[in-house]
Amino acid sequence: MTSHEAGALHAAATPVWLEVPEDVNALLQPLWPATAYKADDGVLQIGGLSVTEIAQQVGTPTYVVDEADFRGRALEFATQFDRAFAPLGGATVHYASKALLSVGIAQWLVEDGLSVDVCSGGELDMVLRAGMDPSKITFHGSNKSAAELTAALEAGVGRIGVDSLPEIELVSRIAQSLGVTAPVMLRLSIGIEAHTHEFIATSHEDQKFGLSVADGDAMKGVAQALAAPGVELLGVHSHIGSQIFDARAFREAIYRLVSVTAQVEQEHQVKLPELGLGGGFGVPYTTGHDPLPVADMADRMAAAVERECRASGIDVPHVTVEPGRAIAGPAGITLYTVGTIKPIALGGGFTRLYVSVDGGMSDNIRTALYGAEYSATLASRRSAAEPRLSRVVGKHCESGDIVVKDEYLPADIAIGDLLAVPVTGAYCHTMASNYNAALRPPIVAVKDGLLNVLLRRETMADLLSRDLYA
Ligand code: LLP
Repeated sequence: MTSHEAGALHAAATPVWLEVPEDVNALLQPLWPATAYKADDGVLQIGGLSVTEIAQQVGTPTYVVDEADFRGRALEFATQFDRAFAPLGGATVHYASKALLSVGIAQWLVEDGLSVDVCSGGELDMVLRAGMDPSKITFHGSNKSAAELTAALEAGVGRIGVDSLPEIELVSRIAQSLGVTAPVMLRLSIGIEAHTHEFIATSHEDQKFGLSVADGDAMKGVAQALAAPGVELLGVHSHIGSQIFDARAFREAIYRLVSVTAQVEQEHQVKLPELGLGGGFGVPYTTGHDPLPVADMADRMAAAVERECRASGIDVPHVTVEPGRAIAGPAGITLYTVGTIKPIALGGGFTRLYVSVDGGMSDNIRTALYGAEYSATLASRRSAAEPRLSRVVGKHCESGDIVVKDEYLPADIAIGDLLAVPVTGAYCHTMASNYNAALRPPIVAVKDGLLNVLLRRETMADLLSRDLYA
């Protein structure tokens, strides 16, 4: 690694989408949950509560979920995919619970009639506790244990997403010993890796998931699954990536999956009744992101499924999609209290304000891990100060402990202010850690002025309960 003088390089390093705000108090509305707004005194309101009330009741840092927004997004997916696929073989939306899950959240899904995708015995346990109809559960995962598969088959899950040739054998063995038939989707590696506006379409994918179409494992898996006692092959599945903003990569995936489905029909005289298109629907984390609305995405995917099935001469299978981030992400915000503040001179007359908060990479690892971009706002008052280029950092012992890399915050931001970071509903709580013995924040749901603690704050006693020397 070479060193450089901080000034010139760092000063130029603000992202192109980041503009100096006209009003540093204003919310960038598309990034915030449906019920969020700032009152005249500048205090952020969400779910009919002010964030100062929320912080008084449960402290900070805290994940706050706008219940109406979460449920609204889930229902919007279900409604739009139902509508778009109604003239075809229909479609089912499985919420990808890895994005955000607690038993209370799973109960919302149950009440609203959603299906769910889980990828571990732990997630399975939580959704079953919530009373989820097992037939509405798909169990994915690249290395499921015999115990996890047994639990899933005993519960009677609707689908097992099988990821490898040995897993077909394992599922068959367990199903036979339980005297049940395992409904199986085969996850395929179809040579498409999609991110945001780009996707790479090759024959091979250099990653661990699925049975490779290019290597012939996909058709080997099909033959093996069709012959395996205790296994019913429902269809093929792919998940091509994350933060996908348009339908082009899905179109390519649909083409490849329908080709396999048609090949199965030709070679084995078996109609596969389902087609799994995975998740990956993108959300705006910043003003630089502009994903296609759900209705348009559903229309384009339906058109592609219809076109490819017609071209291949097969009946249109029933489609499943598995959005996680697009349901949970924008529904959640994280509330922090501001601590230490340091203006750091970057040279060339530039200064960056380092604003420390009472959480960090233990409650949001995405910035450090993926270079994810977020925004933030002063949430507990109105400020008359000018915008100042800032970086929101955590309290952990490393310099990569950044929550929001670039944002304009009011120059008078002060210790004790509340700071809110939007679009933290997905993959923040579920990827949280106890780094530096941090106690993981609670998840509170807010709706119509009521605060509902879904998950309480972790305590030192929780942490020490595993320490046999404590
Ligand atoms: N279905 C399958 C089989 C998946 O593997 C995933 C995500 C999803 C659905 C949901 O994808 P979504 O709609 O949420 O993009 N930790 C990363 C995301 C990893 C996603 C892994 N699989 C992040 O924080 O961005």
